[in-house]
Amino acid sequence: MSSIPDVFPLRHILSASQFTREQIETIFAVTDQMRQARDKRQALDLLSGRVISLMFYEPSTRTSQSFQYAVTHLGARFVGSKNAGEFSSAAKGETVEDTVRTIASYDADLMVMRHKVLGSVAKAAEVSPIPIINAGDGPGEHPTQALLDLYTLLRLGADREETTLVLNGDLKYGRTVRSLCRIIIRYWHGAPCPIRLVLCAPDAFRMNNDILAELRRAEISFEETADMEGALRRADFFYQTRLQLERLTDEEEKRRANLVATDFRLDDRHLALMRPSASILHPLPRVNELSPELDADPRAKYLPYQTRNGMLVRMALLTMILRPDYVAQL
Ligand code: NCD
Repeated sequence: MSSIPDVFPLRHILSASQFTREQIETIFAVTDQMRQARDKRQALDLLSGRVISLMFYEPSTRTSQSFQYAVTHLGARFVGSKNAGEFSSAAKGETVEDTVRTIASYDADLMVMRHKVLGSVAKAAEVSPIPIINAGDGPGEHPTQALLDLYTLLRLGADREETTLVLNGDLKYGRTVRSLCRIIIRYWHGAPCPIRLVLCAPDAFRMNNDILAELRRAEISFEETADMEGALRRADFFYQTRLQLERLTDEEEKRRANLVATDFRLDDRHLALMRPSASILHPLPRVNELSPELDADPRAKYLPYQTRNGMLVRMALLTMILRPDYVAQL
């Protein structure tokens, strides 16, 4: 009998809050299949003849490249615009709505969009004749990162027993941690959540109240702290994040942010404080908040484990949106 739960229609992916537990389980079951195929270097021609549009209006390495590889490993092709903010008609003032309708008219099958303006991907989706995946909308959300982060946590055993997950660093402007909280809420909706969240940040970078209120409503156990060493000692999973300097517009705010950034840096002095069984995660890119000295430690799971999961989850999503028939017969 298939281990894949019921299939469902999946179209736009805009927010981590849109998923049900069943949908997430399906995505992860398909992700496991993608892993098996890739581990054997088996070619999957599931999307042959399809064309995926990749529109990136903000810098990206992992999200854009992992989508490119996901598309390629599935036998599809992509047409991309990096630096779309600068080199597309957006620079002339064109709206995302006009852009997506134009690109759909060239027979693109799906668009992946990253934009610097909060809510812009959802706006494009409102008029889009083709499915759209939000690859990050400014300080808003990053749902595919949330899926890959939750997949990473679960496959590393986060649901086996009571687990302490520390989110550390810039929780105010980081969209990955916002989306991760939301997907945790969705995944354990109506069921006891084994994860206890520790939101660890200097005062100026605390998690916004909207997410705190959502966690409270969902009865997810969490606490806020600025004591990084204390959090480190308790962590089963330590999710480090970077200071989102590009989201600060005020020079004085940037200067003050840089001063506190050293307070949440993780380096080899911290290794002795951490549990031997703990895992260190990071969405990457890192700047100086995560020392490369940690990379050789077996607890470092961000590279290549977490990054590879990004490609595999995105392969699963593209397949589920464009080939529901394939998923149905699993
Ligand atoms: C993150 C992002 O773009 O929000 N990067 C990523 O997609 N892996 C995290 C970051 O930029 O700090």
